Amino acid sequence: MTTVAVMGNSASATPGTPEPSALEHRPVLLHPLIDSLQPKPGQVAVDGTFGAGGMTAALLERVTPGGRVIAIDRDPAAVARGRARFAQAGAAVTLVAGNFADLDQIVHGMGLDAVDIVVLDLGISSLQLDDLARGFSFRFDSPLDMRMDPTGDSETAADIVNGWDEGGLASLLRDYGGERFARRIAAAIVRRRSVAPLHSTAELTELVAAAIPRRFWPKRIHPATRTFQALRIEVNQELKNLELGMQAVISILRPGGRLGVIAFHSLEDTLVKNSLHVAAKNCICPPQQPLCTCAHRASLHLPSRKAIKPDAAELADNPRARSAHLRIAEKL
Ligand SMILES: C[S@@+](CC[C@H](N)C(=O)[O-])C[C@H]1O[C@@H](n2cnc3c(N)ncnc32)[C@H](O)[C@@H]1O
Repeated sequence: MTTVAVMGNSASATPGTPEPSALEHRPVLLHPLIDSLQPKPGQVAVDGTFGAGGMTAALLERVTPGGRVIAIDRDPAAVARGRARFAQAGAAVTLVAGNFADLDQIVHGMGLDAVDIVVLDLGISSLQLDDLARGFSFRFDSPLDMRMDPTGDSETAADIVNGWDEGGLASLLRDYGGERFARRIAAAIVRRRSVAPLHSTAELTELVAAAIPRRFWPKRIHPATRTFQALRIEVNQELKNLELGMQAVISILRPGGRLGVIAFHSLEDTLVKNSLHVAAKNCICPPQQPLCTCAHRASLHLPSRKAIKPDAAELADNPRARSAHLRIAEKL
């Protein structure tokens, strides 16, 4: 299992598009994505994971004149920054604070039946990772939060580490982080919180590093990487939202419309791959069944069954792109 949620850290300055803020996020696999989706003037594109707006900017440049980009992010801070960045684009860019799991309702709520292009660039942005208040990174001492949308009353990372039982914590770290020392870390968390609750990323980082024997520390990533990934996935219900989002996206693409999804770890990529492969099948009956009894009919064409990965030049330029997988589909 690949465990690092890889985030770029500087923006692509697409000529002719609004400039990013000083804090930057460099989109991964942008050129293969645009080449595959071929956005055209007059089209309606949805960027379901706006982030710092690098992909919205690239889409906007190609769908105008005549087209528009609907840009969604569940992080209200990203949406607020986006509104400022794209203010001059007027009606060509609509920023929405929302969850891509509700993409169909969001699009229908704008009076549209279908769209031409949807992009999902999963995970968190460099801006979120580097925001001291958010608790996504083990590089800074922050409150143990990790919510992409901090406005709701959903569980934080602190609620999980201080509230879940030891078995639940161990399963979480193993299943969502691929952490082989999950049980040791869970036991250390429970021991520690019996003295005082864990409040900060630094406390958790130190505890995890101490729970993993030094000789087993991973070579290329920080020992706390897998624990942080697992907590982030759970706090934000990332897999559930992705599953719902894939169904919503497929349902709102018009015939001939295209979808591009970029995943950064194997849990995400497997879910995306399976959703696309099922939607591209004419029958989903068990293979041993001689006659088809399902009413399932293919709604997608997959130009390739393989994911597109960053080339050597992109990896040299942005080594944190190394786990990115881009999958493309076309609505039938
Ligand atoms: C990797 S960043 C996207 C970067 C963006 N493509 C760019 O060029 O700047 C992922 C963004 O998606 C948002 N996000 C993650 N899951 C989401 C969901 N279920 N619904 C809406 N936004 C989501 C995160 O808040 C984050 O801002």
